[in-house]
Amino acid sequence: MVEQDTTDAMRDGMKRAAAEAALEYVAPDSVIGVGTGSTAEHFIDALGSSEIPLEGAVPSSDATAHALAARGIRVLTLEEGPRPEVYVDGADEADPELRLIKGAGGALTREKVVANASRAFVCICDESKLVDALGAVPVPVEVVPMAVPFVASMIEGLGGRPRLREDFTTDNGNRILDVEGLSLTDPLAIELALDAVPGVVENGVFAMRPADIVLAGARDGVRTIRAKTGDGEDV
Ligand code: A5P
Repeated sequence: MVEQDTTDAMRDGMKRAAAEAALEYVAPDSVIGVGTGSTAEHFIDALGSSEIPLEGAVPSSDATAHALAARGIRVLTLEEGPRPEVYVDGADEADPELRLIKGAGGALTREKVVANASRAFVCICDESKLVDALGAVPVPVEVVPMAVPFVASMIEGLGGRPRLREDFTTDNGNRILDVEGLSLTDPLAIELALDAVPGVVENGVFAMRPADIVLAGARDGVRTIRAKTGDGEDV
């Protein structure tokens, strides 16, 4: 148990290092988008402690909106602000093409909207999230409540094993099916196939809009990984 605690503490330190490195991508007086989860929380902390003035931030969840406001950062919506210059968020998995699986925190729909609305997408994570191929973690799928049984049967037809996330409702008033067993050899195809099922609001595969840069905290520093090459360099 002591060993596990140490590992968790180290992983959290890597997340924090990646989050702090993302400040370099925040332009003064700009509008930014901010994601959800423990790594995004580190980014909000770093932002609040920084001297970087912002016009405001578009949150990807109610929790992030509260965290931003608590640190004195102006919260904007996409309706009232210009397009965010950069979106900063964590991930559950990232492959060498910077395609992601997101949504363990259940905020995937707003995350995908803000990521797509932003000019650049900087993903922050610890190195355990880097994978050769997506698919070891379940794919979260946000579903309109009355459609859950129908969508679950359609997902089974796609080869998936859906499990309803118990006692969880999204910020949009919907449910989450966590889906194991899907073939993710073509992430874009499965992203589109899931979204084509009536009743699906959004899914956690980010292939149509991958990240532009992944900042991955590692034991020896923060690696910067850019799309296509997958080459790493120290920040
Ligand atoms: C929230 O819905 C998720 O997409 C998170 O961004 C993702 O699960 C990463 O979370 P952590 O930063 O907590 O690992």
